[in-house]
Amino acid sequence: MVPSGVALTVAVAVALALPSVALENGLARTPPMGWLAWERFRCNVDCRADPHNCISERLFFEMADRLAEDGWRVLGYQYINIDDCWSAKQRDAAGRLVPDPERFPSGIRALADYVHARGLKLGIYGDLGSLTCGGYPGTTLDDVKQDAQTFAEWGVDMLKLDGCYSSEHEQAKGYPEMARALNATGRPIVYSCSWPAYQGGLPPKVNYTILAEVCNLWRNYDDIQDSWDSVLSILDWFFTNQDVLQPAAGPGHWNDPDMLIIGNFGLSYEQSRSQMALWTVMAAPLLMSTDLRTISPSAKEILQNRLMIQINQDPLGIQGRRIVKEKTLIEVFLRPLSQAASTLVFFSRRTDMPFLYTTSLAKLHFPEDAVYEVQDVYSGKIISGLKTGDNFSVVINPSGVVMWYLRPTALPVQPWHVVREQAHGEGLRPILL
Ligand SMILES: *[C@@H]1O[C@H](CO)[C@@H](O)[C@H](O)[C@H]1NC(C)=O
Ligand SMILES: *[C@@H]1O[C@H](CO)[C@@H](O)[C@H](O)[C@H]1NC(C)=O
Ligand SMILES: *[C@@H]1O[C@H](CO)[C@@H](O)[C@H](O)[C@H]1NC(C)=O
Repeated sequence: MVPSGVALTVAVAVALALPSVALENGLARTPPMGWLAWERFRCNVDCRADPHNCISERLFFEMADRLAEDGWRVLGYQYINIDDCWSAKQRDAAGRLVPDPERFPSGIRALADYVHARGLKLGIYGDLGSLTCGGYPGTTLDDVKQDAQTFAEWGVDMLKLDGCYSSEHEQAKGYPEMARALNATGRPIVYSCSWPAYQGGLPPKVNYTILAEVCNLWRNYDDIQDSWDSVLSILDWFFTNQDVLQPAAGPGHWNDPDMLIIGNFGLSYEQSRSQMALWTVMAAPLLMSTDLRTISPSAKEILQNRLMIQINQDPLGIQGRRIVKEKTLIEVFLRPLSQAASTLVFFSRRTDMPFLYTTSLAKLHFPEDAVYEVQDVYSGKIISGLKTGDNFSVVINPSGVVMWYLRPTALPVQPWHVVREQAHGEGLRPILL
């Protein structure tokens, strides 16, 4: 925390110098990791009938224990984030947001203390508009400063600001204003904006240059649901629009394709592995929304894969791209990593049988005359001495992936390059990064 005199100076300086630009808060240098209540627990506020699963402090205390004790926090899953439906239906007499007194009797400050004592960070939810999506008090333009102050006083570390019940104009004004208001509190608070999702997610309505100066991460597209269809629709949208979205991501500013639903009811084992691999290739935030009290060992193993997390958290923060999309329902994704390493994901949309896919690193536009050590991210198997020109085959299960981590072991290694997606029958057109 910055002493209040300093915070004031900063706020004034920002307001004078940068009327529309605010964010360089030094946060989220790698994609945020943690847990978010929404997809799994929604707006279940019926604590009489369902005390174990309703949105209440008990749920967050229990989930914080799991994050701290079951190996999540040490791997980087440090944010525990509240979503909608936490607050009382009315602001208090002073106009401040207050938590529902029956479901959060200890208050948010106590919850933050509990979370911090376990080495975790607390996220909260707000909505720029007259109401939240779930019908709770929203943050109008008049409330922005006070709500930022309230969250900071409570010890909150991350804010997701939704956009139900606000106009395009209010959003254009309110999202940057909240960035300035958060900054003015002096407390480091990661800022997640739903702004682009309400504007169709694409230029000209969305200006990603501006967004990256306002928000640490942003929801570009629809909410994820507990189904493979939902994962595929998100995947399709993000990679169809990769020319716009890919350059927007980087340390401190990330595209957010929404939560990981691994561990719930909608995905098979192979599909769960695919979501994890594809979100990692996208440099997506890893925000799990599942019941960590009852998660299966196989889902936990996918979410706790160390090499996967290392790749997701690569310090260069370059979002990957789809580089091959074939009519045979095979797609290949590439994400460049630090130290000339990279990751490849081979994804099959086939649903009938495993697919034997043969290619070479040369065909995937890796530098000529290089030699790689390859590690299969899921099996751990190592292939040494793979030359760019060697043909190789991978067997990809239905709706599944094979994911590789590649490190060059022999030069020449040229500066990394990104290739554009190869439409069927079209040549690859390399572009320099
Ligand atoms: C506020 O913004 C300034 C300038 O961009 C930055 O140096 C500072 O770290 C920010 N403070 C917080 C708490 O976000
Ligand atoms: C986005 O905003 C920036 C900064 O205001 C501006 O320079 C740029 O031209 C805008 N981009 C588009 C595509 O409108
Ligand atoms: C790899 O396969 C192609 C056919 O797709 C063939 O032309 C080439 O000679 C093979 N390369 C090696 C090193 O075997």
